[in-house]
Amino acid sequence: MDDLYRENILQHYKNPSNWGELDAPDLEFFDSNPLCGDELKVQLQVGEDGVISDVRFSGHGCAISQASASMASEEIVGMKLDEVLKLDRSFVLDLLGIDISATRIKCALLSLKVLKSASLGQAAAWETENAA
Ligand code: FES
Repeated sequence: MDDLYRENILQHYKNPSNWGELDAPDLEFFDSNPLCGDELKVQLQVGEDGVISDVRFSGHGCAISQASASMASEEIVGMKLDEVLKLDRSFVLDLLGIDISATRIKCALLSLKVLKSASLGQAAAWETENAA
């Protein structure tokens, strides 16, 4: 079963969804993983009802960080900003579907951090402290 998830991660890494830049984003946030310096930016298009209508990620990072951004991008269109703020790390860890070691947890959660930060308008918590 793990192999299927690994293959899926690789596919998202090689061919990420919603990668690039929006012409006129309503919200955006950029951050990096302090452990490696890899960078990720998210841009959101948001309707007046607070519902996300489009998303793009850009930046560079490892397979786990890129794949989690790609997978998350497929889930959040149609969500309200306050729903994004309620997401916790299980959101991305479930999408990835494999055990993530403590040293890679910031890779997995970088996309969630920039997503929540963009929705909040300021840097959000990592959701990673005491990572299991
Ligand atoms: Fe940098 Fe994973 S090694 S985000």
